[in-house]
Order: sequence, then structure tokens, then C-alpha cells
Amino acid sequence: MHVLILGSAAGGGVPQWNCGCANCRAARTAGIDRTQSSVAVSADAERWVLLNASPDLRQQLAAHPALWPRGPRHSPVAAVALTDGEIDHTAGLILLREAAARLPVYSTAGVLALLGNQWPLLRVLGEYAGVEARVLPEGGVVALRDAGGEELGLDCQALAVARRPPRYARGVPAGTFDVGLRLEDRRTGGTFAYIPAAGAVDGAVRVLAHGVDLLCFDGTFWSEGELGASGAQALGARAMGHLPVGGSDGSLAALPPLGARRTVLVHVNNTNPILNPSSPERAQVAAAGIEVGEDGMTFEL
Ligand code: MLT
Ligand code: MN
Ligand code: ZN
Repeated sequence: MHVLILGSAAGGGVPQWNCGCANCRAARTAGIDRTQSSVAVSADAERWVLLNASPDLRQQLAAHPALWPRGPRHSPVAAVALTDGEIDHTAGLILLREAAARLPVYSTAGVLALLGNQWPLLRVLGEYAGVEARVLPEGGVVALRDAGGEELGLDCQALAVARRPPRYARGVPAGTFDVGLRLEDRRTGGTFAYIPAAGAVDGAVRVLAHGVDLLCFDGTFWSEGELGASGAQALGARAMGHLPVGGSDGSLAALPPLGARRTVLVHVNNTNPILNPSSPERAQVAAAGIEVGEDGMTFEL
């Protein structure tokens, strides 16, 4: 399985348009642009599945030749799988509206309902090429397929993780709006757990990530009160559904026992001190044997 980190930042990216924090200023000065959270995976390096569709998708597709068209009105993007219905993970679907055929979009029934109602992307896109909504049954294993029904060589399992509904849908009845994904390459047996947003390392995370070749996990915040301290009006990290990286009960302590061969933090918010390579927090991440994701990182599993 080929895994390509298209975007390693949380919503807003780094630098964020309205932020002058130390990380955002450093990024502007250095000309570094960390784009919003998304990964592309492929079994054959020809047909790719996007895990989430970020608002930076146009730039992300342009940055990687593997994702360039092979002919007129063609794209190696064969399907999209969504871990949730958040704006930073779904707004990119709008940018795929020029598709020549209905694009398969996999997610849970809860997320597909959000996209049919509170954040009506499916209805809007229905006036363009449209998407084909495909349900990921919780816990079940689904063979991902392209628009024509051809198998893509990847099995996908979705399990609900600790989160809360997106902000635009606070009033909705309980449902599953956030999952982690476990992908397995049928041919190589390579395994990849993708969990860009989770408020806990719980039983579901353990099942998804146990012994995988690669785990990409929520690295949004270092500490509970970090976003509020930056001046943003914000809930604490856990109330937002993001387990902080630091602290004795943070992900840095909880992830190594899962036994993943490699663990990479993604969906990193611009307030997070681990973005500074010379920070003590970054040193702690490295000491735990964990990596900070970067745009353009690739893995072969
Ligand atoms: C999150 O990751 O918690 C959300 O994307 C935050 C948001 O509403 O932008
Ligand atoms: Mn987000
Ligand atoms: Zn910032």
C-alpha cells in the first residue's frame, strides 16, 4: 500500500489566515505551507483513495504527479473515504465537482446524513457530476471500489472514536459522526490506521491500530488549554474531541503500547509547539519514538 500525506495540518492550516502566533509567523517567514488534513492511499499506485477531502485539495493534487490526470478528463482519484463530516475534511468535495462521473464517497451513515442535511454537500454536488454515497458499516470490513465497481485492492474497516458532532450540527440526535479507519492491502497485507481526530485512546483505537505498519493519529493539540491561550474563543482540547499529545494522560503515553511499527501525528494545529523543531515538546515526541507528520511524506506498506 502506498500512503501519501497530502496535508498534515488541522483546520486552518499553517499559517492560518488570521493567526500571527509564533508558529504561523515562522511559517510565513520560511515560506512553509502546511496544508489541511488529508491522506491519499493506493494499492496499485494508479488508482488512489483520498482519506478526507480538504479545502486545500486543489493545491495537494497539483503537488503530486501520481495524482495528475493521465489524459483528458481523467483523474487517478478513484474514491474518497471520510472519517467525519467536519468542514476541513469535506470542503474539498466541492473542488471535485468537475468530475466526469459520480465520485464514490464512503463514510458512515451518520456522516452521509449530515452531508445530506445540515451541510448539504451531496445535494449541491448532485447538480454537478454528483457523488455516489457508499455506507461504511461500523465494524464491518468493506472492499473499496472505484466508480465502475472495480475493487481497488484495499479493505477498509471503520470504528467510532470519541468525538462530538461537528459544530454546525450540535443539535443533531446521537449518531456516529467520527470514525477511525483501518486499511489493509489485500496483496501485501500492509496495514494502515488513519485516526486524524479522536478524543481518547480507547478500545476502538486499540482495535484499529494494534500492530499496524503505520498509524497516523490526532496530533491537533499539545495541551488541553492551548487553543484558548492563543486568543481563540475555544473549548478545551478534550471537549473538542482531541486528545492532547502531552501530559501523563496524553497520546504520547498512550500510543506506543498499541504496537504500531510507525506512529505519525497528523491534523496538527498551528498552535501546537511540536511544530517548532527545536521545542522541548518536539524532543519529547521524538523520545517517545513518534514522528510529526509533514506534507508530502510517503510510506510503502
Ligand atoms: C476539529 O478538528 O475539531 C474541527 O475541524 C474544528 C472545526 O470546526 O474547524
Ligand atoms: Mn479538524
Ligand atoms: Zn497560528
